[in-house]
Amino acid sequence: MFTASYIIAASQLFAFALGAPILSASPKQARSLVARTAYKVFGGDGTPAQGWPQESEWKSFEDLWSANVDTTLKSCSQFGQDNNSQEESDNIKKAIEEVAGTSGVKAEFILSIVLQESKGCVRAPTTNYGYDNPGLMQSFQGTHSCNPDGNGVVPCPYDSIKGMIEDGAGLNGDVGLKEGIAQAGSDDVSKYYKAARIYNSGSLVGDNLNVAIATRCYSTDVANRLIGWTDADSHDCDEATIGNVGAGAPSSAPAGPSDSGETTTPVDTTTPPPPAPAPATGGCSKNWTPVSGDNCSTSGVDFATFQSLNPSIDSNCANLQPGTSYCVAA
Ligand SMILES: *[C@@H]1O[C@H](CO)[C@@H](O)[C@H](O)[C@H]1NC(C)=O
Ligand SMILES: *[C@@H]1O[C@H](CO)[C@@H](O)[C@H](O)[C@H]1NC(C)=O
Repeated sequence: MFTASYIIAASQLFAFALGAPILSASPKQARSLVARTAYKVFGGDGTPAQGWPQESEWKSFEDLWSANVDTTLKSCSQFGQDNNSQEESDNIKKAIEEVAGTSGVKAEFILSIVLQESKGCVRAPTTNYGYDNPGLMQSFQGTHSCNPDGNGVVPCPYDSIKGMIEDGAGLNGDVGLKEGIAQAGSDDVSKYYKAARIYNSGSLVGDNLNVAIATRCYSTDVANRLIGWTDADSHDCDEATIGNVGAGAPSSAPAGPSDSGETTTPVDTTTPPPPAPAPATGGCSKNWTPVSGDNCSTSGVDFATFQSLNPSIDSNCANLQPGTSYCVAA
């Protein structure tokens, strides 16, 4: 059922463009800089009691930055934009540190959301499926961007970079990370994993962070980023089955990426079988199965319709899975 995949979310678009797994040449080199962590699937409510990482397990901001800076320097090719310059990436780091100070949101958490949303591309486009989601953090109705109209601004000025981080952290509106942490209503580290769910989908749904709409792997991805997993490593989270992973000990991914970039099944086989992918409402009269190189546009229906029929698709169409059947007509 699970198709081995080395590629996740927005990085799929890299793969579409390059025709090969991303960063296939660099993991060993990067691994020598900072000890990195293989992906673990976390299920349940975000608490350490249900297996999620304690804050003491997070890597330091400096270590996380070192492990991910190479990703940021290449990340704009997924959008067909000029890659970040070294100075632009340096300015992301500086802005995160400043905004962590003014917002009280931990720098490690801000960085993890930046990577999750845009991989750190300063010219990430504004997406709009009802509301603007601009920039590095694809913030809800944020006002800062270095690519509001499809033409990336080069260089992206520091004020814009900092503004994008402020928008996402919640300093310029009322639906950023700061508000998500408050809304989570927890004192322990689960407030961050819950805030990640709220940031991605607008709310908490029940006590399993992985079953909501939008990107189901979102909270477990962010938890993995905080403990040192990077986009250069295998991504062993399957949107179709993650909702069935219950509370308890996380299932460990195989140690480190294999040379071939292939992975074995990541999900605990004692969990129930996954439900068949289903459209949002009612039946589905027509299905479509993308192959490598397809994107939401090639589905033949407009994106708003496609997303409403397939709620697991995120707002960038970054998690479209080749080989998975999607609904294209109600
Ligand atoms: C961005 O970096 C990637 C990876 O090194 C490269 O393949 C791509 O050509 C670069 N894009 C531009 C516009 O230079
Ligand atoms: C989707 O794929 C088509 C056909 O390959 C391409 O023309 C189009 O630019 C792609 N769209 C995006 C958003 O990548």
